[in-house]
Amino acid sequence: MAPILQHSLLLSVTVATATAIQIPFLSFPTSHDQAPIDVAKPETKPLVDSSELQDLISGDRLMARAKKLYEIAKLGEPEFNHPTRVIGSDGHLATLAYIHDTILALGDYYTLSNQSFPAVSGNVYEYRLVLGDEVLKSAAPMGLTPATKNKQPVHGDLVLVDNEGCEQSDFPKDFPKGGIAFIKRGICPFGTKSTNAYKAGASVAVVYNYEKDPVQGTLGNDLSEHHVATFGLSGAEAAPFIKKLEKKEKVDGIAYIDADVNIIRTANIIAQTTLGDPENCVMLGAHSDSVAEGPGINDDGSGTISLLEVATQLTKFNVSNCVRFAWWAGEEEGLLGSDYYVYSLPEADNKKIRLFMDYDMMASPNFAYQIYNATNARNPTGSEELRDLYIDWYEQQGLNYTFIPFDGRSDYDGFIRNGIPGGGIATGAEGIKTKEEQKVFGGKAGDWYDPCYHQLCDDVGNLNMTAFVVNTKLIAHSVATYARSFKGFPERTDAALAGMYEAETKYHGGRVFW
Ligand SMILES: *[C@@H]1O[C@H](CO)[C@@H](O)[C@H](O)[C@H]1NC(C)=O
Ligand SMILES: *[C@@H]1O[C@H](CO)[C@@H](O)[C@H](O)[C@H]1NC(C)=O
Ligand SMILES: *[C@@H]1O[C@H](CO)[C@@H](O)[C@H](O)[C@H]1NC(C)=O
Ligand SMILES: *[C@@H]1O[C@H](CO)[C@@H](O)[C@H](O)[C@H]1NC(C)=O
Ligand SMILES: *[C@@H]1O[C@H](CO)[C@@H](O)[C@H](O)[C@H]1NC(C)=O
Repeated sequence: MAPILQHSLLLSVTVATATAIQIPFLSFPTSHDQAPIDVAKPETKPLVDSSELQDLISGDRLMARAKKLYEIAKLGEPEFNHPTRVIGSDGHLATLAYIHDTILALGDYYTLSNQSFPAVSGNVYEYRLVLGDEVLKSAAPMGLTPATKNKQPVHGDLVLVDNEGCEQSDFPKDFPKGGIAFIKRGICPFGTKSTNAYKAGASVAVVYNYEKDPVQGTLGNDLSEHHVATFGLSGAEAAPFIKKLEKKEKVDGIAYIDADVNIIRTANIIAQTTLGDPENCVMLGAHSDSVAEGPGINDDGSGTISLLEVATQLTKFNVSNCVRFAWWAGEEEGLLGSDYYVYSLPEADNKKIRLFMDYDMMASPNFAYQIYNATNARNPTGSEELRDLYIDWYEQQGLNYTFIPFDGRSDYDGFIRNGIPGGGIATGAEGIKTKEEQKVFGGKAGDWYDPCYHQLCDDVGNLNMTAFVVNTKLIAHSVATYARSFKGFPERTDAALAGMYEAETKYHGGRVFW
């Protein structure tokens, strides 16, 4: 799950990675090709049944996989000094191998493919911003920022930029070479401001908020732009400096960012049943990667494991409709893998996906049973029928549930934008549990749903196994229901509503671009 950022604006996102290079699916032989052909007596399997599939979900098996995933995350230690499964790390490569090998071991039940794609990956190691003689506590390097020159502190005059720094003419003609551009947030993406600062001759850009709060943004992954080292700063800390600069008082500063930006290749893994109608598929996904800060056993180790376990148990059954599982990479960098997948799907293949179900964070320790409020009014038709399937199931189990905004924070986003109905469930990230929710779900009001969200402590102990089992059974139910029949589920219609979703959706993954 990508983080909530309060004061974000509407985004218009260009998915550079999805359009730049198109790589066909890499299919490769499964054990199918080697298996002896038993013409005489083909094995028959019973048609999948929801309660039978749910009964095969066990907490012990989920926990065993969680422990395995933590061991895998430890492979990230030599490079990161702690366990992680961030894209590009050995922990993520081993996660991909684990998913791949698990599905491969299921024989010819699935057709397995890797979809390789380019991703931009950035790491910030150290940073500091001093203006006048003040160390600025709210200063936060933007995602994908380059380092300051030679990865050394740079010294320069602070220069107030006119308007929002979205036009080159907002920068003074006599901008001092190597100065620190002080730019107001708003109107255009942070990446544009940083590029304009570079062109003006600045060594550093500081984007201050128009509100008191800090800004945690990203410069975005458009590599055609040339950026300078860029910080976000709270409006509160910026205010006294704006005053001084407006009074033409001189302010100088020292800025330091040690960071890397790299283009790497990573991969989505897709597994599709060989049985079932390939023209009508139910698709579901979880993301295989974590953030750099920790092992990501809940985010989204939990969804990754739920899908592996449901995929494993499903092999005992026949299906009427095809089932397609996806493990996305680069979710934490901005939904890179799922975007790449959906935006490169030919129209005919898009139409074969009847719906997409997103499973990101299934076992938060201070959980709520959250259902995305995906309605047909705002989303492709069918999204609401899926939402109602989750509602009905929780009600049948005598469990409480709550609606959460369907606002683009996870991998369903590209599907909705491309006219494919979608929805999903979650158990909560860095949001705060309310008193009302404590009454309804237990746990602790006032704390985050996942107090270890995006941190080192997102380990095996960060899973609530009750929630994990409940939600994996619900995933099994969703797969079994649609694998068995799409009776009563709307046909695919044209993507007339995608524009409306786009206009109202706040996020595209985690960080704000503006
Ligand atoms: C699955 O069901 C289809 C349609 O009824 C049938 O043709 C096929 O033989 C079945 N396959 C298995 C493995 O049971
Ligand atoms: C697909 O990815 C897995 C896991 O990284 C790897 O083991 C396998 O060799 C890859 N296959 C192809 C054809 O690239
Ligand atoms: C769900 O979304 C619809 C709009 O599509 C809105 O009218 C409704 O109030 C939302 N419900 C909740 C509980 O957020
Ligand atoms: C559901 O919420 C009610 C309070 O509204 C609570 O009394 C009940 O115990 C909850 N049910 C479960 C299964 O937690
Ligand atoms: C998981 O949640 C349930 C229900 O709220 C609670 O009873 C249990 O103690 C929790 N388990 C852990 C390990 O936190």
